[in-house]
Amino acid sequence: MSSRVALITGGTGGIGTAICERLARAGHRVATNYRNEEKARAWQEAMRAKGVEVFLAPGDVSDPDSAAAMVRAVEQGLGPVEILVNNAGITRDAVFHKMSYQQWSEVIRTNLDSCFNVTRPIIEGMRERRWGRIVQISSVNGQKGQYGQANYAAAKAGMHGFTISLAQENAKHGITVNTVSPGYVGTDMVMAVPEHIREKILQQIPTGRFGAPEEIAAVVAFLVGEEAAWITGANIAINGGQYMGW
Ligand code: CAA
Repeated sequence: MSSRVALITGGTGGIGTAICERLARAGHRVATNYRNEEKARAWQEAMRAKGVEVFLAPGDVSDPDSAAAMVRAVEQGLGPVEILVNNAGITRDAVFHKMSYQQWSEVIRTNLDSCFNVTRPIIEGMRERRWGRIVQISSVNGQKGQYGQANYAAAKAGMHGFTISLAQENAKHGITVNTVSPGYVGTDMVMAVPEHIREKILQQIPTGRFGAPEEIAAVVAFLVGEEAAWITGANIAINGGQYMGW
């Protein structure tokens, strides 16, 4: 299989780490961004110890200039980005009637504006080279909504609107654009939900367990491969059966 340059935003997080590892093991040259250099270097060392090499570039995906500089650094280090996984995301949960503008805008900027900020400097090169794979990591909560997540659900639903528009614009240029919508995966983000609420959520999952980051990474690896060339504009749900929309 071909070795490609893959940028996974938020690669040091729970799902991001699994995606970096999976794509690196598939032979791709993998990069991610960071905001905290010390933490990122420690993470890089831990990945190295597992035999996984990840190129690091500083960059805040919520800021257009910082994101563009990050893309330039990756392209200087590894070459043009051929695979982009817009994975970086945060939560600032609160019921809407108590939500501050800051909680709203931090989530919209990091989870949704980041899709513009990171994809915009990459898309023209993909079109010129006539090959590209773009995957948005959305959420089951972008599909079904979630009590306490008006900001997050709005951003995550928005990501798929972005996907299906880009998919149409770029299909003839050899670029596929898809969304993966994970359910509750056993990461720090989900473990930060208060335990009594988490227990209730678990009861809504027919498989009776939270997902594993590797189960998300496996689907991303398939979507960015050559074999997935005819899958574009899709929203792949991976949620243990919690939401079975169609
Ligand atoms: N449906 C209906 N009512 C609910 C509810 C729900 N799902 N969740 C909470 N409530 C009710 C409670 O029963 C409570 O009612 P009473 O006041 O009548 O007792 C009321 O709402 C307030 O609930 P809390 O005590 O929890 O209120 P809070 O202000 O302390 O917390 C919250 C609100 C921050 C939203 C908290 O409920 C919470 O953290 N919920 C979890 C949100 C969630 O699922 N986040 C996902 C994070 S992981 C992630 O995002 C990854 C991914 O993609 C899946």
